[in-house]
Amino acid sequence: MELERISTGVEGLDDMLGGGFPINATIAVIGPFGTGKTIFGLQFIYNGLIKGESGIYISFDEGEEELIQTAANMGWDFRPYIKEKKFVLIKLDASDIKASLTRMQSDLPILIESFKPKRVVIDPITLLEMLFNDESERRAQIFNLCRTIEKNGTTIVLISGADKANIYASKFGLVEYVAGGAIVLHHVRSDNLQKVTLAIEIVKMRRVEHSREIKPYFITNNGITVHAYDQIP
Ligand SMILES: Nc1ncnc2c1ncn2[C@@H]1O[C@H](COP(=O)(O)OP(=O)(O)OP(=O)(O)O)[C@@H](O)[C@H]1O
Ligand SMILES: [Mg+2]
Repeated sequence: MELERISTGVEGLDDMLGGGFPINATIAVIGPFGTGKTIFGLQFIYNGLIKGESGIYISFDEGEEELIQTAANMGWDFRPYIKEKKFVLIKLDASDIKASLTRMQSDLPILIESFKPKRVVIDPITLLEMLFNDESERRAQIFNLCRTIEKNGTTIVLISGADKANIYASKFGLVEYVAGGAIVLHHVRSDNLQKVTLAIEIVKMRRVEHSREIKPYFITNNGITVHAYDQIP
């Protein structure tokens, strides 16, 4: 059976995936600071909104105003969609562990059930993972959270920081296993160290015949663009 797809909002990445993310999947987007993970998350949500698909952005990091400003810089105006109740931006405070956990564990499933968003982004999941000291507890909680969100026809992007020593692993080495797909963003430095190129790679995408190439991508005033060249320029 053909998998139903949802556009990532990045044309070149859709091409690498053969049409977009599978719907109902959880996708981990892993990368070090400044690789455009938040911009990718906003672009993914905005791409849905302009097609009439609702979205939820859960931020543990930047506040509502900052995210709306970042999006506005890219020409994406989220405010009308907030007014029309097509988009909800939730800022959770990672330092207020108890309140954040309550909201994630009891309020969020209720919101998902009633709102039935097509697209959900959690940015970064790393700060949620940090709320659990026990590894098996962390795994169970993240697993349950993804399964709760996925079942309503929702595609979830879990944005994650990368491990310091291994750019292909997330900070806790967990989300890439829990998720059905993993995309890695990285900085590639030229041999003379005079140039940095951003590169994107699909490391995992269950049930999808996807590209194995490492493609350069750019961040501009229009968001993220993945180029079709075969080589890092
Ligand atoms: N208008 C723009 N034109 C070109 N590059 C931009 C533009 N706006 C932002 N950037 C680049 O994008 C980076 C920020 O992207 P973003 O905030 O999405 O990264 P991130 O991976 O979420 O970082 P962090 O891990 O710190 O949250 C900036 O550091 C800058 O390099
Ligand atoms: Mg970010």
